[in-house]
Amino acid sequence: MTGRILTDRLEGHRCGRAVEPPPTPPVGALPGMDAPALEWPRRRHTLPVAVERASRLVTKVIPASRADGWNHNTHYHPLLLAAVPRPCSRALDVGCGLGSLAHRLATVAGHVDAIDREPRVIDRARAFSGGLANLRFIAADFMTWETSERYDLVSFVATLHHLPFAEAVTRAARWLRPSGVLAVVGLDRAPSWLAACARSAIAYPVSHYYRLTRPVSPIGAPILDPAMTLAEIRRQAAATLPGAIVRRHLLWRYSLVWTKPPSA
Ligand SMILES: C[S@@+](CC[C@H](N)C(=O)[O-])C[C@H]1O[C@@H](n2cnc3c(N)ncnc32)[C@H](O)[C@@H]1O
Repeated sequence: MTGRILTDRLEGHRCGRAVEPPPTPPVGALPGMDAPALEWPRRRHTLPVAVERASRLVTKVIPASRADGWNHNTHYHPLLLAAVPRPCSRALDVGCGLGSLAHRLATVAGHVDAIDREPRVIDRARAFSGGLANLRFIAADFMTWETSERYDLVSFVATLHHLPFAEAVTRAARWLRPSGVLAVVGLDRAPSWLAACARSAIAYPVSHYYRLTRPVSPIGAPILDPAMTLAEIRRQAAATLPGAIVRRHLLWRYSLVWTKPPSA
């Protein structure tokens, strides 16, 4: 047994119990990345195995050629889409993964840039995108990437915990136009074992309900356990993004919405 706490394939689904390291990912999967749909690695759950197996039997997995099914991240896309300023001529999605949000943004924004530092993920995102004319995928590290563009929206979905929080949001704020919006759906670390259990006691059944009632997509991109608690995120947000609204959500996620002052 190691002390590692595993994260679910839909990410951020912490069990709160030490488990063995995961099996080696299948050939073709990136380290720390979900396997393609239908070939996911075996999961280890603290839920009774029978419940887990039964749930898998009836879960409909979206074919690997699509990335628009349900998961803990896509669940919060409506919240992000509601934060898009209108009109929105240019949006940037950071850590776009397979590009499902970028795709949705492309229906409400004039142009979308979607950036991910993993070239193989970007290749798959391009393949899924069907060559939308107003959607550009960029393989680059957001922390060193430079652009002369300014955006009406910068979004991060399950990406901010891969980056140094203050530096990343400061960079994002720099790429925003005055009155532009920074919209984040992120993962936070439960402050204690008890808090993790309390959250999961409600979130697990809800998550399973969704999995059983709609087709799901794997994240299909590198995942990481979050290091910051929501209290730490709130403190750093208050210091770097005054006026940001941070809310806790059920499925192991929080949201942060910040509007750049018109005079900045
Ligand atoms: C958990 S995935 C989330 C993917 C996608 N946003 C979604 O909701 O499915 C996090 C993504 O952030 C990307 N990422 C991590 N650090 C990055 C960086 N410095 N620059 C750009 N992308 C990064 C990873 O490659 C990965 O695809």
